[in-house]
Amino acid sequence: MKALVLAGGKGTRLRPLTYTIPKQLVPVANRPIIHYVMDQIAGVGIRDVGVIISPDTGSQIKEALAENPWRFNFSFILQEEPRGLAHAVMVARDFLGSDPFLMYLGDNLIGQGIEAFVEEFRQSKPEAMILLKEVADPRMFGVAEVDCDGKIRRLVEKPKVPPSNLALVGIYLFSPFIHEAVLEITPSFRGELEITDAIQKLLDRGKTVRSFILERWWLDTGKKDDLLEANRVVLDELVRESLQGEVDGGSRVAGRVFLARGARIEGSTVRGPAVIGKGTIVRNSFIGPYTSIGNGCVVEGSALEHAVILDGARIAGIARLEDSVVGRNAVISKGSQNSQALRLMVGDDAEVLL
Ligand code: G1P
Repeated sequence: MKALVLAGGKGTRLRPLTYTIPKQLVPVANRPIIHYVMDQIAGVGIRDVGVIISPDTGSQIKEALAENPWRFNFSFILQEEPRGLAHAVMVARDFLGSDPFLMYLGDNLIGQGIEAFVEEFRQSKPEAMILLKEVADPRMFGVAEVDCDGKIRRLVEKPKVPPSNLALVGIYLFSPFIHEAVLEITPSFRGELEITDAIQKLLDRGKTVRSFILERWWLDTGKKDDLLEANRVVLDELVRESLQGEVDGGSRVAGRVFLARGARIEGSTVRGPAVIGKGTIVRNSFIGPYTSIGNGCVVEGSALEHAVILDGARIAGIARLEDSVVGRNAVISKGSQNSQALRLMVGDDAEVLL
């Protein structure tokens, strides 16, 4: 079995972060989302991984995977234009050959392994298998109508009136039959060749499509609050205590804190779960639970909690910053003058709530 990871497309919902970082590389607990995807693929023993990339962000994706601790045989496949998930399958036709494959959207994060899902596919050999999750508002997803023994009756992409609350999580298993189905569909209302429509074609031809319900969390890291929530859950569940950096005598580190090599805590309190990246300096500050601070940041005279701070950011003199996402190299600092005036240089699509 091979894997196909989709890391093309444009991320509009996480703007302004995704003006400069592809959505698959947005960090959760200081690791790009796509690394969690690769962990999952390695967990089911797949070695050949095709990665769909776009002309805009392909080089950043390649760089993020260059270290390759999973020892995959990577094939990078260029999708010239974002013409949909089914189009990505067409572009990957040569790489996929006649193998069954796992297709994984590179910005999806789920709270359980995919071993049981893949095992059921290997045993029961349907033409396709989809992962579903109950959601409150399914209208922004593909939605499935399922009968009582888990067989899919019908699938619709972004329905105005959803037939159920079971959304398609962006993780699929396919037999090579899917290559015929993707050739039969036409672009949807949003101008894309939808994989949902291709799976519906399999159903129309009487092929078996099975489903598997995801019990634990699924985070579609669509917006700021989703990103903070993903960060919270991953810090809660995956972070182990490890202090590889320096903590001076005037500091206190409590709970599960991952402090990377070259990071320094001076005269500060850090309360986990939290991660602090390489070369970051925290001075005379309080870092509260559910905070991820990237590499090369400086936090001085400030208190942070429930926040995601990307590489190179500098935060100084801020009495309390919470529920916040701060982009790369951003500076948030309170001047020494006792003035009420705000002096801002705020980028496109930024949000400042005072
Ligand atoms: C895509 C799929 C949709 C699925 C979703 C999961 O939507 O088309 O069926 O539910 O991923 O993330 P998109 O993110 O392209 O809107």
